[in-house]
Amino acid sequence: MRKRAFSGIQPTGNLHIGNYLGAIRQWVERQAEFDNIFCVVDLHAITVPQDPAELHEATRQVAALYVACGIDPRQSVVCVQSHISAHAELAWILNCVAPMGWLGRMTQFKEKSAKQRETVSAGLFVYPALMAADILLYHTDVVPVGEDQRQHVELTRDLAIRFNQLFGEVFTVPEALIRETGARIMSLAEPTKKMSKSEPAGSIALLDPPDTIRRKIARAKTDPLTTIEFDESRPGIYNLLTIYELLSGQDRPTIEARFQGKGYAEFKRELADLVVEALRPMQERYAEIRRDPASIEAVLRDSADRIRPTAERTLSEVKVRMGLG
Ligand code: AMP
Ligand code: TRP
Repeated sequence: MRKRAFSGIQPTGNLHIGNYLGAIRQWVERQAEFDNIFCVVDLHAITVPQDPAELHEATRQVAALYVACGIDPRQSVVCVQSHISAHAELAWILNCVAPMGWLGRMTQFKEKSAKQRETVSAGLFVYPALMAADILLYHTDVVPVGEDQRQHVELTRDLAIRFNQLFGEVFTVPEALIRETGARIMSLAEPTKKMSKSEPAGSIALLDPPDTIRRKIARAKTDPLTTIEFDESRPGIYNLLTIYELLSGQDRPTIEARFQGKGYAEFKRELADLVVEALRPMQERYAEIRRDPASIEAVLRDSADRIRPTAERTLSEVKVRMGLG
């Protein structure tokens, strides 16, 4: 029996190479090893205000990007979170099992709520309980994500253990799967911050045209030194070199030797070529998929139908254990 993998991305803004290198690429690389569910988590997206038409469109866009990046919908489940109502229902139950103190310690909540102050939704606070519901409904073993989700997966584990202790063994306790390199791609504009969908200037979107990619890389912040080396104390150049490493498949000494004595401008030009060429086949597949919107709708509907029974079985077991109904 293969292990179950579950992961998801919010349909909020443009997916970028951080999402790809941190998450999607390892989904694709290990697709055959696991029994996969890749979800577009639209219920998470509405924890901050969304335009309805844009949310609906972005949900299709993210699903199409999964497939364009190499997720095969015959092999892996590609679904939309809100199509399976058990996610919201289990999330409510887990809200009642999760102590406020645990949720209050989540750094993502602290960061996001600091920006919004009192307009912040109650949903943003309980966001990690919904993520735990996503994962626990399917007896997930591994959760392949970027570094920023480590704390949420830890909370999911704690919630599973707590529930199992209180009501009996129902949930599998999952593990985060986080790669050593690429789990935290930084902003090109501010390399001490992570690349994020909410900051398009510092991120390379998977659907950026070549000239935009070249311009963003040419403007990427570096430092006044001139050597091109993997030195973590120089976040700008370190980040660009990491992207080069991941996309070229070359090892660090080879890359450093290649650029020895060369300037930033030349390195950036080569990196831009590499990124443009890496994204080109994915962008072509994406355009093809979007020409046939009915097929993506069918994939999403069929996938939800395929996994809904598993989700409902777990949910009804939870309800019985808790004395609900
Ligand atoms: P999000 O953009 O928050 O929906 O994240 C979707 C997935 O991409 C999650 O697994 C994140 O951990 C991962 N991710 C987001 N930003 C980055 C980044 N800058 N570097 C690496 N992984 C990232
Ligand atoms: N919170 C994750 C993020 O922002 C997205 C997500 C929701 C997720 N549910 C999940 C990731 C379940 C892994 C598993 O990146």
